[in-house]
Amino acid sequence: MSSRFQVPKGTFDVLPGDAAGRDLVKRTARELFDRAGYARIETPTFEDTELFARGVGASTDIVRKEMFTFEDQGGRSITLRPEGTAPIARAYLEHGMQTLPQPVKLWYSGSFFRHERPQAGRFRQFNQIGAEAIGSDSPLVDAELIMLLDELLRTLEVPALRLKLGSLGSPDTRSEYREELRAFLRQHEGELVKDVRDRIDENPLRAFDAKDEGTRAVMAQAPTMLDRLDPGDADHFAAVRRLLDQAGVSYELDGTLVRGLDYYTRSVFAFECEELGAQSEVGGGGRYDRLIEQLGGPPTPAAGWAAGVERILMARGGSEEARPRDVFVAAAEAQRERALALVTDLRRAGLRAEVDLAGRGLKGQMKQADRLGAAHAVILDEDGGAQLRDMRSGEQREIDLASVVGELAAS
Ligand code: HAM
Repeated sequence: MSSRFQVPKGTFDVLPGDAAGRDLVKRTARELFDRAGYARIETPTFEDTELFARGVGASTDIVRKEMFTFEDQGGRSITLRPEGTAPIARAYLEHGMQTLPQPVKLWYSGSFFRHERPQAGRFRQFNQIGAEAIGSDSPLVDAELIMLLDELLRTLEVPALRLKLGSLGSPDTRSEYREELRAFLRQHEGELVKDVRDRIDENPLRAFDAKDEGTRAVMAQAPTMLDRLDPGDADHFAAVRRLLDQAGVSYELDGTLVRGLDYYTRSVFAFECEELGAQSEVGGGGRYDRLIEQLGGPPTPAAGWAAGVERILMARGGSEEARPRDVFVAAAEAQRERALALVTDLRRAGLRAEVDLAGRGLKGQMKQADRLGAAHAVILDEDGGAQLRDMRSGEQREIDLASVVGELAAS
């Protein structure tokens, strides 16, 4: 009989067969960040709604339509975190991390929540691995972060990767640029598709995403933000590019790369996997030099990224093999209690050991040992004797129970 209940829309269960792949992603990230001197941070799953409204930006899709927001019993407006950067900026300020040597380099892994229309690779609860380096405006930070994400995705063998890189400059040059783009679009109004025409004022940058041929022809001639960077931003961008070139990280320049968060300044980047279809972005981020100030702190430059764990797993394809057991302890009826004591000793010695918990007969237990891929079975006979069986060769011999733990641990 099927259960009356199902997982909420846009969510999923991680079943035992899926766990190994997730563990691998986390383990790989932990090792990478440890070598690079990034320390782990954890923030709560929910925050004051205002943090995201101010941090992510009130006009973004995330804040306007995608947040899981509710009032708690004390009448406070609470939101399940849609992303991790604003919470970490909050934590940086709340714990006075400005007084630490800068930049403060942090990484995280956890669940995030967005009320989006579910589709392949897009969920309402999903997991991110992310990194933030707060307190330095050096282009070395941007380049190092991009190189770390590149390394993570390559170590995890994400195929067909493409890195897109752009710069958004500063909010001032960006608003001047938008004005220029609006004027350009108005000049070409007759050649634009209606949808783009209707949104010239509201969101001129959307025109770059249009599929319509006529609009695309116009946009191929349009100025991009990269053409309008002020000298400081242009130098910074040139330095980031030089560092990536020197490191042999290839990228495509994308003057129209806009990300769905308002806090970005200067560098923005996204890694796409061509094999993923519509939701092809496996990870992305950028610099956010104004965010800490917007949250009430002193001017503090920062940069970071986040990668989607589910997207990484989808791109990798396949699943991780479960690791086989080292030892299965099979026991005749009278020996079951001794069997539990023995697996406990084996586990203390560092072996992956299991015992039958289902009341199987000896034959059934040997079958189970086989299914689990155990390398050895210890068989406790009715009369108190013990046998050690090599499950691969089928070789079996009498052993002394007192020494079996040491012998197996050494093998
Ligand atoms: P984001 O681009 O919104 O950036 O999300 C980062 C990654 O999370 C995406 O590239 C994607 O792989 C994954 N992702 C986002 N939404 C979903 C979803 N609904 N379902 C599955 N995966 C998803 C941020 O969140 C920024 N906080 C990144 C950042 C850190 N920028 C600076 N520092």
